[in-house]
Formats: sequence, C-alpha cells, structure tokens
Amino acid sequence: MKVAPPQFAFLCDLLKKRTGVVIDDSKQYLVVARMLPIVRQRKIPSIETLLDRVRQGIDPSLERDVLSAMMTHETSFFRDTKPFETLRQIIGELMSTRAAEKQLVIWSAACSTGQEPFSIAMLLNEHFRDLVTSWRIRILATDYSDVVLAKAREGSFTDLETGRGLPPALKQKYFRPLQGRWSIAQECRRLVEFRQLNLIGNWPPLPPCDVVFLRNVMLYFDVATRDALLQRMRRAVKGDGSLFLGGAETMIGIDQGWQRMTGLGCSYYRPKK
Ligand SMILES: C[S@@+](CC[C@H](N)C(=O)[O-])C[C@H]1O[C@@H](n2cnc3c(N)ncnc32)[C@H](O)[C@@H]1O
Repeated sequence: MKVAPPQFAFLCDLLKKRTGVVIDDSKQYLVVARMLPIVRQRKIPSIETLLDRVRQGIDPSLERDVLSAMMTHETSFFRDTKPFETLRQIIGELMSTRAAEKQLVIWSAACSTGQEPFSIAMLLNEHFRDLVTSWRIRILATDYSDVVLAKAREGSFTDLETGRGLPPALKQKYFRPLQGRWSIAQECRRLVEFRQLNLIGNWPPLPPCDVVFLRNVMLYFDVATRDALLQRMRRAVKGDGSLFLGGAETMIGIDQGWQRMTGLGCSYYRPKK
C-alpha cells in the first residue's frame, strides 16, 4: 500500500517545514503504518483524505497528531549508560564551580515519554542527595509532541518500559506499582518541568543551561537544520556548560563552535572559548 504522490509530497514538506524532520520516498511504508491508526480512530475514509484535511487546516489537532505520529519517539531509561556516567562526573565538578549560586539547570531537549529526564532525576537523587535537598535543581524536559509529553507528565511506565535500562535496584527505590503500571516517585517528579518546545521554532525564554541532552533527534534533521540548531544551542549553554548528543550523532561537518570533550566512554561538547 502506498500513499498517492501529491499527498505524500505534501506530508514530507509539512514535516520538514514544521519540525525539521526529513523523510524521503523510502519511508512510504512508515507513513502508511503511522497514518492508519489515525484514519481508523477518526473514522476518515483514507490516508489521502486525512492528509487533504490537514492541508485544509480546519482542525489544528489533526496536523499535530499527524506530525507527532511521523516522529520516532524511541527512548529508554539510562539510554547508552555512558552519558549518564559522564553526567555524574560533570555534576561532581559543578558542585564546586556552582557552589556560590547553588543552582543547576539541565535541559533534556527532546525528552519523548520522559525516560531521559527521569533518569537524570534518579541519578541526582541517588548520588547528589545534598544538591537535591539544598540547591535549586531544574530539569527542563521539552519535546515537540504533545502526545509524548502527556505520557511523560503522567510519569507512569509499563513493565516493558521499566525493563529497558532501569537497574532493578532503582526500580524498587523510585517506582511504586499503580494500576498495573509503575509510577515514578515524587522526589524525582518534582525536579522535572515538562514543556512543549519546537527545536526549530521560536523558543520561550530559557535559563542558561549547565548541561543539555540533545540526544537522538538531530539524526532526523538535514545538515543545514543541525547546523542552525547547534548555533542556537551555543547561546543556550553556559560557557563552561556541556552538550550531549546521541551515540550516532556527531558534529563532523557542522557547526565549528564546539569543542569535543572526552567523557567516561563517550564524547560531549563545550562551547569554544
Ligand atoms: C528518538 S526520541 C529521543 C528521546 C531521548 N532524547 C532519547 O535519546 O532517548 C526523538 C524525540 O525528538 C522529538 N522531536 C522531533 N523533532 C522535534 C523538534 N523539531 N522539536 C522538538 N522535539 C522534536 C520527537 O517528538 C521525539 O520524541
């Protein structure tokens, strides 16, 4: 099954224009797989009719659902492990460099269903209890998709989700069973502020960040969009702040304003002086 060329081209253009995400003809199967549930749920006769209705712009929620469905929201707790070990080391250093202000801002800039910011919150509770109780710690967690943000705000995960990357000891300590799911403890929840933010749109005012996790999102953007985003990130991150990318993402060939740093089994980046 294929989507008719005019509607497929319309969707590719809209996705790129609104979110930066690029898809090509090889993703026909993906469009079909992601649009069918919306068509069925909204009782729309076909994918083409759905996309025509998005084009007409009568119902903005339709556009949001379609674009959100086209994104990959794959995530897990403590994904790739090493960035979190490195973050632990960096926070250890920030304890001295930020001792006067007693404040930390960590931004999870494409947080999906919340596993990434909640992993950071667990790391802080587990290893930096004094900071959590006596400093002002803010974990900003943003995403384009309202759908994933609604789930993230619930802070409630399935067995499968808690079975991916979450050490059993942390599951026992920071999650409570609730209605067949696992609900994250208040001590982690209270550190995280979820907000809708489009990385390629206008950003609301953000506090200068000590650490940014911008992981596994730029790989869906083209080079020009990545370059522009990394330039903006240089203004969002403090001069001695740190930026983490996903395991398959690098700065090679894009913005030259970052210095690569060696972490514990992974790289991270600092703005060049
Ligand atoms: C693969 S997930 C990555 C989640 C998490 N950072 C991780 O590494 O596990 C990518 C997320 O990026 C979000 N996203 C895609 N384009 C975006 C944009 N323009 N602005 C903000 N978020 C975006 C998607 O909604 C999705 O939840």
